[in-house]
Amino acid sequence: MDKASAKKKIESLSEELEQHNYNYYVLDKPTISDFEFDKLLETLIALEKEHPEFLSPNSPSQRVGGQVTKEFKSVKHKYPMLSLSNSYNWEDLEDFDRRASEGLGLANDLFGAAELEYVCELKFDGLSIGLTYVNGELQKAVTRGDGVQGDDVTTNARTIRSIPLNLKGKFPKEFEIRGEIFLPRKVFDDINKEREEIGEAPLANPRNAASGTMKMQDSGVVAKRKLDCFLYALYGEDLPFPGHLESLQAAATWGFRISKHSKLCKGIGEVKKFIDHWDKERFKLPFDIDGIVIKINSYQQQLQLGFTAKSPRWAIAYKFKAEQVSTELQSITYQVGRTGAITPVANLKPVLLAGTTVKRASLHNADIIEKLDVRVGDQVFVEKGGEIIPKIIGVDLTKRPTNVKPTKYIDKCPECGTTLVRIEGEANHYCPNENGCAPQVKGKMEHFVSRKAMNIDSLGAETIDQFYNAGFIKNIADLYDLKKEQLLPLERMAEKSAQNIIDGLKNSCTVPFERVLFAIGIRHVGETTAKKVAKKVKTIDALMEMNAEQLVLLDEVGETIAKSIMEFFADKENRNIITRLKKAGLQFEISADQQQATSTKLEGKTIVVSGVFTKFSRDQIKDLIELNGGTNSSSISKKTSFVLAGENMGPEKLKKAEGLKVPIITEEDFENMIK
Ligand code: IVH
Repeated sequence: MDKASAKKKIESLSEELEQHNYNYYVLDKPTISDFEFDKLLETLIALEKEHPEFLSPNSPSQRVGGQVTKEFKSVKHKYPMLSLSNSYNWEDLEDFDRRASEGLGLANDLFGAAELEYVCELKFDGLSIGLTYVNGELQKAVTRGDGVQGDDVTTNARTIRSIPLNLKGKFPKEFEIRGEIFLPRKVFDDINKEREEIGEAPLANPRNAASGTMKMQDSGVVAKRKLDCFLYALYGEDLPFPGHLESLQAAATWGFRISKHSKLCKGIGEVKKFIDHWDKERFKLPFDIDGIVIKINSYQQQLQLGFTAKSPRWAIAYKFKAEQVSTELQSITYQVGRTGAITPVANLKPVLLAGTTVKRASLHNADIIEKLDVRVGDQVFVEKGGEIIPKIIGVDLTKRPTNVKPTKYIDKCPECGTTLVRIEGEANHYCPNENGCAPQVKGKMEHFVSRKAMNIDSLGAETIDQFYNAGFIKNIADLYDLKKEQLLPLERMAEKSAQNIIDGLKNSCTVPFERVLFAIGIRHVGETTAKKVAKKVKTIDALMEMNAEQLVLLDEVGETIAKSIMEFFADKENRNIITRLKKAGLQFEISADQQQATSTKLEGKTIVVSGVFTKFSRDQIKDLIELNGGTNSSSISKKTSFVLAGENMGPEKLKKAEGLKVPIITEEDFENMIK
């Protein structure tokens, strides 16, 4: 295809794909299948590879992410990002209405206050974002920050499918639109399910999860998180709209996702109805809201009222009360987690709260129980805030029965009877019996077989429980001694399932060392740490020999992790397990390929990797750089030794490299370099 037709085709494909994105993510009405969409996208990516000069930063191909932002640039807001003043009750709102009327010179004549025209909107619970568009193209996305300046998160924002990269219709030449990025509740629940599976602590609430995600360095990970965005305010010079609602309606026609729940309300009475409606109905929404925002519609009136130092006088937030009920505390039980941490749980007389029946609530730790002075038999107040698990926030002392006794926190593990310990400075009690306490042992095994560790999917939590109860397994090494004949007599164990388990265990012997290191469950050694440590130390024997001073020199290892690694290997039982796993054939060294690749050929070189490669994945290339003594960097500067460019290298990077006269090398050159 000649250049001119390639350019045309790239443009028409981009437009078509963006329209499908809009249909799917904004209108919720897809008109083609995912398969057809992927085909179109593949064609576009292939064409852009062939003609990188036509790759635009706002191409739909950029939505899958892949670019890494090392440090988010701080950007000054053109219009300061103010917040709203809050109200919590009806009187606050009436005051607001009165002040606004007075400010506009309309108040309290003989016929009462004038009815102002308000727009009521949902108050989305996420993080605010300002999107600037120039000539219809997304130019930058900036977080609120301190209101004066925020972080440039454009690369991550481009991965959010409901944020248009190119606008449709007739829009102002330059403007900013603000809104809220959030994580739908279902996506949040799915993320937490997966985290639980791999033994990671669940994320506290969708709001934190959304803001944490927007600050991730790898936009590829952000793309997978399925964030969403509602827009709720337009800023610009000479906007041709009489009021807020009209501006939002126009923005919807340009391709933005605008909430269909916003409503024009005549007078504060209608505002109240809107609030009452959503106070009840909010739990049916697929995302969290924490209140209602009330804005005067007319831009003329907004201008007249102006701002205080912190917030506009023409708008106010009404915050919902976290729903609260009181019910009886029937008992307190104590749960032991995989790491041995004890969590006290309040068992309640079932009660309806925020749309669900609540039977249990977290009591967190001994300090909280003491501070609240909760006792079994008390009527307690339970609240559901942004967190998933309801909390006990207090005791109704007026209803305390006379015979209740103060709560005495347990001092022995409820599972194995071992005396609990409490590490200074930590809130939780721990059961130190790591290798003999059932939930800890079973939890360790579940972690060991999980997807990101040994990935033995024929072994789930239930089967582990069954084997443990049958006395077949007491630690992860016992798994490799299991025999098919031994499993067959067990309940619900068909020949095929037994064979799958034995095969799964056998196949796990090829899982690379870095994942084995993650799987054995050294406290605080997560996936990334295990990966980095494995690559650096190369064998488990070398790791076992290291002292604290040597350990802290490793990437990703601080004092806590170093201490935890030392403690793990100091335990005779753990050393014994490693010896048995070695005998079973598990990988305790990095592979021969990786070993061979090790050299100092790139020592002192700072390398930027950009684009797509044919022989290796980007991650493999980055690993090779490190294994040969080089350093990876994400941004080009005078210090960059060279840019390793694959196909589809970003045009901005290309320009920068050329400008700074940084050499650009190909995948082939690189291979020759490290040969
Ligand atoms: S309007 C001048 N509308 O609530 C302030 N804000 O303090 C204009 N929020 O940080 C904000 N939903 O992130 C507005 N429909 C909505 C909103 C909303 C959520 C957030 C926003 C802001 C905070 C208010």
